[in-house]
Amino acid sequence: MQSSNTDVAADPRVLSRRYLAGGIASINRLADPDIVFTRAQGAYLWDTGGKRYIDYHAAFGPYVLGHNDAYVNDAVRRVLDDGHSLYGSGTTELEGRLAELICGCAPFLQSVALLNTGSEATYQALRLARAWTGRDHIIVMQGGYNGWHNDVACNLMTPLGALGPRRTGEEYAFLPISAGIPQSHQALVHPVGFNDIEAVRAIVDRYPVAAIILEPILQNIGIVKPLEGYLQGLRKLADEKGFVLILDEVKTGFRHALGGYASVCGVSPDLAVYGKAIANGYPMAAIGGRKDILDLFVDADTRKRVLLAGTYNAHPVMVAAAIATIERLAAGEGAIYREFERKGSWLQGEIEALGREAGLEMFVSRQGSALCPYFMDHEPTDWHDLAGNHNFELDAAVRKSAIAQGIYTFPIAVKQWSISGAHADRDLEETAAVLKKVFASVKL
Ligand SMILES: Cc1ncc(COP(=O)(O)O)c(C=O)c1O
Repeated sequence: MQSSNTDVAADPRVLSRRYLAGGIASINRLADPDIVFTRAQGAYLWDTGGKRYIDYHAAFGPYVLGHNDAYVNDAVRRVLDDGHSLYGSGTTELEGRLAELICGCAPFLQSVALLNTGSEATYQALRLARAWTGRDHIIVMQGGYNGWHNDVACNLMTPLGALGPRRTGEEYAFLPISAGIPQSHQALVHPVGFNDIEAVRAIVDRYPVAAIILEPILQNIGIVKPLEGYLQGLRKLADEKGFVLILDEVKTGFRHALGGYASVCGVSPDLAVYGKAIANGYPMAAIGGRKDILDLFVDADTRKRVLLAGTYNAHPVMVAAAIATIERLAAGEGAIYREFERKGSWLQGEIEALGREAGLEMFVSRQGSALCPYFMDHEPTDWHDLAGNHNFELDAAVRKSAIAQGIYTFPIAVKQWSISGAHADRDLEETAAVLKKVFASVKL
């Protein structure tokens, strides 16, 4: 049955609800309020009614420069005007240039593979680690997110009732966030608490562990930072026990520094995975790190070779977008990161002061341009701490009220707020003015 133009004009969701599986392209986009956006520019989004929002959602993080960045879009237009296409044969000058740029971002980036999405990249990084070590088991973080595939689709925002009490020094049960993950597969994956190095040590002593994969800052439950020495301890343990340290920098990479959080904390992973901000919203991902491990993708011995294929890998449009994004981020010796620190720190200070003024118990956790207000009295160190102390209802109410007044953060508690290069001081001031009203009005 065809929908009439009038139906669609009255509600653009009509076609999606009728023909798109579940009416939505990603389950993670289900939101209340269910706003249909029609345009975005810089720091702003507009909905069907023409209402403008200052955007802190950034489509789950990629828009480090802001929406529709002119420099990036011009590079994309140019690559099309120049007649580039996807050749599917050999390599191109463009992808070599991008690989060189990425490898210039940190000394540990000796070589790089180009893919399309973060999930593909974490999948391939784990496969590389298994092939490299000849071991099958992997360690993941409770409260971490590394994509949707079988190895990692578990234990994100697990209700504490299902998870049970804190198990310091031990693993948690694998609690899938997707149906269809074989039991045999689940037995190979060991979720542990973030910042709990003893649990990692215990698992490594018990099982043949190929890799630990973790976000260096848990940015899918806000901003949960590593304690001093934790990442360094993992590096040391990986060296001692011969497993591969994979930093999932899909959210942190290019947002906190060109070399990702690894360059901020000074810990070199064996492999790092990038996505999101690497191409400012265009679908591009990368695995970078040790050349000897990445060379498994082209090992002459086909029994050792890890299959990296992908029709769309290094599509010229995405490559051009990534090159332009990195050029913009690198300009002025990383001036944008100094601006992120200034703006982030100002907004953090304002939100904390407004919270105090309104008598709210809260703490704003932040790294550069990424922040998350927690309605609890300290900075959380892991999921148990967060889930047991944060006021989720208040968080959701604040977001809902802010959205109604033109400040868009994703309407689910503990989702990261992201400032972009396009957010001007006046946008942050407008945000603070709205939050003052929001904090005064939300019911405790
Ligand atoms: C840390 C992290 N890793 C991996 C992924 C998966 O990336 P993608 O959604 O591009 O597959 C995400 C997505 O949110 C992420 O935040």
